[in-house]
Amino acid sequence: MQHPYDQPQFYGRRRGRKLRPAQDAALQYGLANYGITDAMLAQPPINPRQWFDANCDSLCLEIGFGGGEHLAARASQSPHTGFIGAEPFINGVASLCRHVIDQNLNNIRVWSDDIRLLLPHLEHHCLQAVYILFPDPWPKQRHQARRILQPEMLDMLAQLICSGGELLLASDDPTAKSWLLANSIRHDSFVWQAETAADWRTPPLDWPGTRYMQKAEKQGRKSAWFRFSRV
Ligand SMILES: C[S@@+](CC[C@H](N)C(=O)[O-])C[C@H]1O[C@@H](n2cnc3c(N)ncnc32)[C@H](O)[C@@H]1O
Repeated sequence: MQHPYDQPQFYGRRRGRKLRPAQDAALQYGLANYGITDAMLAQPPINPRQWFDANCDSLCLEIGFGGGEHLAARASQSPHTGFIGAEPFINGVASLCRHVIDQNLNNIRVWSDDIRLLLPHLEHHCLQAVYILFPDPWPKQRHQARRILQPEMLDMLAQLICSGGELLLASDDPTAKSWLLANSIRHDSFVWQAETAADWRTPPLDWPGTRYMQKAEKQGRKSAWFRFSRV
C-alpha cells in the first residue's frame, strides 16, 4: 500500500517576492553547505546525527520554520544540539540561511521542502524535540485536511521522537489551538505537560519567539503553547 506521505499535496506558498541578489547568494551558499540533499537520504533509515559534528549530542526538528528566527536562536542557545529545519517557502529558507551565515551557526541542516517527504527516511527515536509553531491554521472546515498536524503526522512523530522527548506546539489562532490540542491529547503516545492554565498561556522559559508570534502580539491576539512529552 502506498504511504500517504509518498506524494503529499502542499497547499502553502513556495515563493514570494523575487529574491534580491544578496538573498539569493545566501540561499545558494546555505543550501550548498547546510542543505539536506537526496543523496544524504540514499540509505534509509538515516540517523541524522551523521550530518553534524561529532560533539552533537541530540537532535531537534522545527517544521515550518518561516523566516528561521526561532530555529537560529535555538541553534545559537544550544551549540551541541543538531537542528533540522523544514520549510518549503524559499524566501523563508533564504532568510534562515542569512541567520546561519551571520551567526556562523554550524548546527543547522535545512530541508527546503515539505517535511512529509523527509520524515519517512529517518531512524525511529532519533529526535529529542519537535517544534510546530504557529502553523497555517486553515480555519475553514473544508480545508481541515490541509492542516499540518494530522493523525498520520502524530503517528510519524511518535515513531521519531525518543521516549521522554518533547513535542512543542504553539498558535495564536483559535481554530488551530483547538485542533493542535485535541489531536495531540487524543494520541496515545503523547502526554500533555500542562498542570495549570499558566503552563499553556506562558511560553517555555528559553523561548526565543517567532515572527508570526510577534505579528499576533501586535494585533492583540494571545498565543498558547502546548508541550507534550513522548511516553
Ligand atoms: C504561518 S507560518 C509560521 C512560520 C513560523 N513558524 C513562525 O511562527 O513565524 C507556517 C509555515 O509552515 C510552513 N509549512 C506548511 N506546511 C509545511 C510542510 N508540510 N512542511 C514544512 N513546512 C510547512 C509554511 O510554508 C509556513 O512558512
